[in-house]
Amino acid sequence: MCGIVGFTGMQEAAPILLDGLKKLEYRGYDSAGIAVMSGKTISVNKVRGRIANLCEKTKDGTSVPGPTGIGHTRWATHGAPTEENAHPHLSNDGRFAVVHNGIIENYLTLREELLRDGYQFQSETDTEVIVHLLELYYKGNVRDALLKTANRLRGSYALGVICSDEPGKIYAVREASPLILGVGIGENYFASDVTALVSHTRNVIYLDDGEFAELSGMSIRIFDCSGTEIRKKTTRILWDVQAAEKGGYEHFMLKEIMEQPGAVRAAIAPRIKNGKVIFEELGAFLPALPDIRKIIITACGSAYYAGCAGRYALEQLCGIPVEVELASELRYLNPLVDGHTLLIVISQSGETADTIAALKECKSRGAKTLAIVNVVGSTVAKLADCTVYTWAGPEIAVATTKGYTTQIAVLYLLAICFADHLNRLGKDEAAMLDTLQALPRRIQQAIDMNPAIPELAKKYHENHAFFFIGRNTDYAVALEGSLKMKEISYLHAEAYAAGELKHGTIALIDEHQPVIALCCNPFIMEKTLSNIVEVKSRGAEVLALTFRDNQKILPVADDLLFIPKVDALFSAVIEIVPLQLLAYYVAKENGCDIDKPKNLAKSVTVE
Ligand code: BG6
Repeated sequence: MCGIVGFTGMQEAAPILLDGLKKLEYRGYDSAGIAVMSGKTISVNKVRGRIANLCEKTKDGTSVPGPTGIGHTRWATHGAPTEENAHPHLSNDGRFAVVHNGIIENYLTLREELLRDGYQFQSETDTEVIVHLLELYYKGNVRDALLKTANRLRGSYALGVICSDEPGKIYAVREASPLILGVGIGENYFASDVTALVSHTRNVIYLDDGEFAELSGMSIRIFDCSGTEIRKKTTRILWDVQAAEKGGYEHFMLKEIMEQPGAVRAAIAPRIKNGKVIFEELGAFLPALPDIRKIIITACGSAYYAGCAGRYALEQLCGIPVEVELASELRYLNPLVDGHTLLIVISQSGETADTIAALKECKSRGAKTLAIVNVVGSTVAKLADCTVYTWAGPEIAVATTKGYTTQIAVLYLLAICFADHLNRLGKDEAAMLDTLQALPRRIQQAIDMNPAIPELAKKYHENHAFFFIGRNTDYAVALEGSLKMKEISYLHAEAYAAGELKHGTIALIDEHQPVIALCCNPFIMEKTLSNIVEVKSRGAEVLALTFRDNQKILPVADDLLFIPKVDALFSAVIEIVPLQLLAYYVAKENGCDIDKPKNLAKSVTVE
């Protein structure tokens, strides 16, 4: 996720662009840049790192004259966070500058075509194909060039464009990434969200997918995807700036829970092409797969639990034994790894010390290493033989949500990709791909099916302990559900393999220990049902997570959370969502600091 801004009017643009980028910095902050037009001259300034570096380079914008411009703060997805990869990107003829938020899923095909047509690329980004397409299609009319360019793009994009042939104008194009216009007096704006606008104007126009706008200081014209001019209503923003940064949500954690359908889509959609799972990143890696005799997944915290959830698909589809090890343990285990071991390292930040150490230890012993990381260019990404990014966008809340679900989504994709490469998929491939492509919608359904979670939180928030129980894939999700509850509400919670309760821990079960029972795996549903009966007979209140038509569980449980039915091999990213929301609302009831829980860090870069 990145942040884009645009301004045109009578004032100097650069300071306004920089101010807007500062307000959007939470959307991405590994590099930044502005392009400002003075007369027919476009000047571009870009930096690696935070907006502060850009302010320093441009003397807070005072060294860059001009009343029109666009700006960008980057969260790298394609290409490391460098100055070359920072936006804005310029066309070869210097006539166009573009900033982009989103992912161009067909950028490799477009890049090859443009290279064949003689266009020179300055960066590794997906975005740069846009500015060369504009040059290709420009015959004197910017709107026509924008339309033709947009028709070639697949994926998500919020674009800001300026053209030196049209001083005083900025263009905004929206497809599946947020883009809002700010209506001023003698000046107009665009931005990725209202955060960057509210200090200048509270009158905004929300563009919808397929629409684009031409803005000058005195006018805003909006067009639909056929190029027909349309009228849209102006909305008055009543949020304060701080609330706007969270998209109107009270906490970043809730915002990031709600972002999961989009984040999981960003992780999955670009990697399913023509009925196959295609990882551009794995090209040189796959031939070594037939020699792999063991897969070890290693990580910390929720990333470890993501490994626990994804291992089922990996093991069952690939037929390769999979072990999941805590990195803080693996690094000192004297691990039995060699050239026939594949180590999959999972890390949102890519900077967790234990995870880095485990990666180095196993790599030194000859293991093949594949990283699943969110932060582009992070240490884990650089150390691994091969890295697959989750494209979750920046995650601000310390307790991860979309980081976790996108990690599992990538594991699902890898399982199918590896199994296909090992000729083990057979006829189920199409059905599995349909299931994966539907996951974003299913996650949204899991959110929509549970409006009563805030009420459930009021009922359970004073309990001092919870048990999360489940079997198989449900148990893996119970581990993360339990951690979420502990991390942000500070209430004790323990995840237990449901079949293991009777070997000791059931001694703790009574009316004071609510049991959250995950019953989403039909294969072992009956067994979990009997565990629920066991704990109920000892006085426990049971909150069950299951399907709406599960007639056997409904009469037994005291309270219910629902998810839509999905193959249990791929349901973890759905099951966890109601549990994330439960933990969130319990913590809220208890007045906890949800985005910055006590004693925790977003990434523990020390041992
Ligand atoms: C913890 C975070 O510090 O580190 C967790 O609070 C996270 O949310 C864990 O799961 C591992 O971090 P990473 O960045 O390696 O996934």
